[in-house]
Amino acid sequence: MKLKLKLFLICLLFTGLSSLEAQPKTLVLKAGTPVAPIQSTMWGLFFEDINFAADGGIYAELVKNRSFEFYKPMMGWKKSGEEYVGQFQLINSQNENNPRFLRLESLQGKELGLVNEGFRGMGVTSGENYNFSVFARQSQGTSVLKIELIDSTGVVIGKTEVKNFSGDWKKYESKLTSSETNPKAKLRVTLSGKGVLEIDMVSLFPEHTWKNRKNGLRADLVQKLADMKPGFIRFPGGCIVEGHELETRYQWKKTIGKVEDRQLIINRWNTEFPYKNAPDYFQSYGLGFYEYFLLAEDIGAQPLPILNCGMACQFNSTELVPLDALDPYIQDVLDLIEFANGATTTKWGKLRTDMGHPAPFNLKMVGVGNEQWGTQYIDRLKIFMKILNEKHPEIIFVGGSGPSPDGKDFDYLWKEMRELNVKMVDEHYYRSPEWFLQNAARYDSYDRKGPKVFAGEYAAHDKDGKDSESRNTWKSALAEAALMTGLERNADVVHMASYAPLFGNVNAWQWRPDLIWFDNLNVVATPNYYVQKLFSINSGTDIVSALVDGKPLVGQDSLFASSCLDSKTSELVVKLVNVAKKPGSINLSLEGRKASSSEINLQVLTNSNLAAYNQLGKPEVVTPAERKLKLSGKKIVLDFDAYSLTVVRIPLKK
Ligand code: AHR
Repeated sequence: MKLKLKLFLICLLFTGLSSLEAQPKTLVLKAGTPVAPIQSTMWGLFFEDINFAADGGIYAELVKNRSFEFYKPMMGWKKSGEEYVGQFQLINSQNENNPRFLRLESLQGKELGLVNEGFRGMGVTSGENYNFSVFARQSQGTSVLKIELIDSTGVVIGKTEVKNFSGDWKKYESKLTSSETNPKAKLRVTLSGKGVLEIDMVSLFPEHTWKNRKNGLRADLVQKLADMKPGFIRFPGGCIVEGHELETRYQWKKTIGKVEDRQLIINRWNTEFPYKNAPDYFQSYGLGFYEYFLLAEDIGAQPLPILNCGMACQFNSTELVPLDALDPYIQDVLDLIEFANGATTTKWGKLRTDMGHPAPFNLKMVGVGNEQWGTQYIDRLKIFMKILNEKHPEIIFVGGSGPSPDGKDFDYLWKEMRELNVKMVDEHYYRSPEWFLQNAARYDSYDRKGPKVFAGEYAAHDKDGKDSESRNTWKSALAEAALMTGLERNADVVHMASYAPLFGNVNAWQWRPDLIWFDNLNVVATPNYYVQKLFSINSGTDIVSALVDGKPLVGQDSLFASSCLDSKTSELVVKLVNVAKKPGSINLSLEGRKASSSEINLQVLTNSNLAAYNQLGKPEVVTPAERKLKLSGKKIVLDFDAYSLTVVRIPLKK
């Protein structure tokens, strides 16, 4: 962008200038001559297990360290009752994936208890049922397991028991009901009887989960995703794909099959930030690749897995796989395509079938590498691309442009992507709200013949505040909305976009801002969420030029706009963003099509305070409101609020 325009935008940003002070402009909407189609994948989701998004978040398991595999094997557990030496024995069975189990010995008949603290407590709801399960083996005598939900003072708020254990490892299940709503309940497991019992995979799930899948996902959190009607979901990240070292990279094959056989590993966000250490952050992989594909299908989003390209995180070890040893990594991509799309008779397609999904998952895109840069990446990507494009020309392989949206490394990667003929390039921008406004015209000048853009991770980073949710200010969301008009206007080049990261647990986060915040019982949508949702649920099928004085509206009078046609509903959709602190008016003038109704629906997101944010307990500070606009004659005069995003839907005559 030209320097003068940049400076001008910085000056006017979030100031008092507005179109009230100028004559209302006319926004000409060329509805009769759509410019290009908009992809159905345009607005989507970025999911990464950061901020306790999976374990302790969307994965509804309430027991932390259920299989005693954390590096401190009893983390999350406390023994209760009298104990003598040898009463609790932690056995390492050498079983490769889930080696440890706990032996509980009570030969004198004394009760022996264990309490699990959950993920910063367990969120339970009065009247709700919970499914308890445990793998157990009775090696001597006879034992009974008393299972109790307790509150913070030890009062029992739900109970059941499990007994009649056999001498072989078996899974035992029972149900209990909570008599109380409590965000910080705990699970107490007490051994009674005279005997020795061995236990593993101690688990408690709410019966009510997303689509009521047994041992599934938290329904309230997934509902928020479904409500956005996302075009795609990217998973499993993010840096988690890379690992600090190659050993801790994400390996999808270790995340499928029986849950009890999935090998837990440390979550890289456990130690990433010294000021935000989370020693109890691990990946149980209860939410693994099969579940991700299922989630994508459930919410109508195309799956977009990102796989490791033979490089560990370059902010950490930069450990590299030699160029002549990449085969297993490439094979992982090929096998994943077979797992998702292969016939039920193929090796990986059969596994998908055995897990309960004979129909293919219809995988169309795979990312190779996350935030990689330099020649190391390109050298590896070339080898991947040669084989992958040959074997799977039907798949779009996504390359990356590194962690920065500009600069030498970024330019180098883009040049290489063009030469490699990569179909889609992932861009990341975590920048100030001001940067977002300055970049609203970013894609206007992108090469129309080159690779398509996947704005795969972005968020406007405003000043930090005290509350977890406080960085998700209305200012940051408004700036994102302004930039998103630029994404939509350039939807012929930008095929996909997703805010990042998606989830933050208010009691256990490492990174903010995030799109959705939650605790053990509640969820709150941020202003940024509502911006994403308004764009996504009002996504059209074709770009329509929206011009003031023959030019796109990119900051003139503090306004930003984009427009699209929704051919499915025969409506014209206009998104107008006002970043000024005063309201204003604009004339909307349709060219080539006519409005079919004298009343138009508006969805308005606004707040006069740029520092405003939503919080658990105060979730509706910035939320969209519906309005109607009555037309008088042919003219459409749209009044808009200070600091606002207005979505206008105009029904069109056929
Ligand atoms: O979204 C959080 C992190 O930001 C992602 O893991 C990484 O890709 C980026 O640096």
